[in-house]
Amino acid sequence: MSTYRIALMPGDGIGVEVMEAARLVLEALSLDAVYVTADIGWKFWCEEGNPIPQRTIDILKTCRCGLLGAITSKAKDEASKELAPDLRGKGLNYHSPVVSLRQFFDLYINMRPCKSYPGNPLNYRDDIDLVIFRENTEGLYSGIEFFPLPHEVRVVIAKHNPGMEHFNEVPADQIAVSLRVITKRGANRIIHGAFEYARNFGYPTVTLAEKPNVLRETSGLMIREARSIATQYSEIELRETNIDAQMMWLVKDPNDYGVIVTSNMFGDIISDLAAQLVGGLGFSPSGNIGDDFAIFEPIHGSAPKYAGQYKVNPTAMLLGCKMMLSWLGEAEKAQALEGAIAAVIAEGEIRTYDMGGGSSTLDMAKAVVGRL
Ligand code: IPM
Ligand code: MG
Repeated sequence: MSTYRIALMPGDGIGVEVMEAARLVLEALSLDAVYVTADIGWKFWCEEGNPIPQRTIDILKTCRCGLLGAITSKAKDEASKELAPDLRGKGLNYHSPVVSLRQFFDLYINMRPCKSYPGNPLNYRDDIDLVIFRENTEGLYSGIEFFPLPHEVRVVIAKHNPGMEHFNEVPADQIAVSLRVITKRGANRIIHGAFEYARNFGYPTVTLAEKPNVLRETSGLMIREARSIATQYSEIELRETNIDAQMMWLVKDPNDYGVIVTSNMFGDIISDLAAQLVGGLGFSPSGNIGDDFAIFEPIHGSAPKYAGQYKVNPTAMLLGCKMMLSWLGEAEKAQALEGAIAAVIAEGEIRTYDMGGGSSTLDMAKAVVGRL
């Protein structure tokens, strides 16, 4: 029997192509694994009214971890229009499958390493090595939203918070509310994860990037938690920054940061900025990590305009495989894969379109295989 059972969810658009690249590399590494392909994405929303069919959840429950390619996400109204005619008008609501997976499997850490590999012409700077720890199950992406605003909800909020008075005159169908929910447990486990990672991998600082001067309660809770956890890590400096200024400083002095920890939406935003500092979304992987299950993915989307062309850079997906290998405890294979990716980037002969070259997705994967 193989050591690992791994779910492969290619998803939509170029997700299929980068998954093929991942498969080539994993086979070449002779990882002792059996791979199970599972359905996910837009097609299944349109045809079945569910972008993550139950059979996929069942497969994931039998696997050690999963790899995800990319998924097309659309806003509510647009999604409803694309449903198969017999599914329309049944009250089906589109929810981002990746957000649902994170919540369903309680993958509370979203870890996003941003490292500049020397020789990448897209590097903003060559000395960047930072990791974003984004809370992955709550915050503004908890999915607790209202529109139109039910009268009872308005009354209860008004009873407990005078700030609601400001909106007294606004009719229910002209006001939408999304809740930013931060729990002590959620804050604790993401901040704890960030400090553990900093300790294990030798990062001297953990920066909590929030907005406590305005979001006094939710960011305030994060800060209290961070200060308390920091006392157990005396060798690591806790820095506290405001998310807006942090974006500016990241561009100004990206080499000044090690681990950055933040809530869900801030982490979503800051990780795209950080990705661009190291070559863009084509170079940025993401690990959705829980206590005993994890899903690894590139942070880019399904790029419909490039679908079918085998043109996109698979590096983010391959770095996602590297993260998966580390998480599985396959340190040697993880290191070999990262070394091969770094070597191909440094040599500069194989370059996908984003790097100004004409190599294909699979050319890049094969070059990495050649350097293993
Ligand atoms: C990401 C993506 C997702 C997110 C979307 C597709 C829901 O932007 O992984 O960063 O917001 O988390
Ligand atoms: Mg994002």
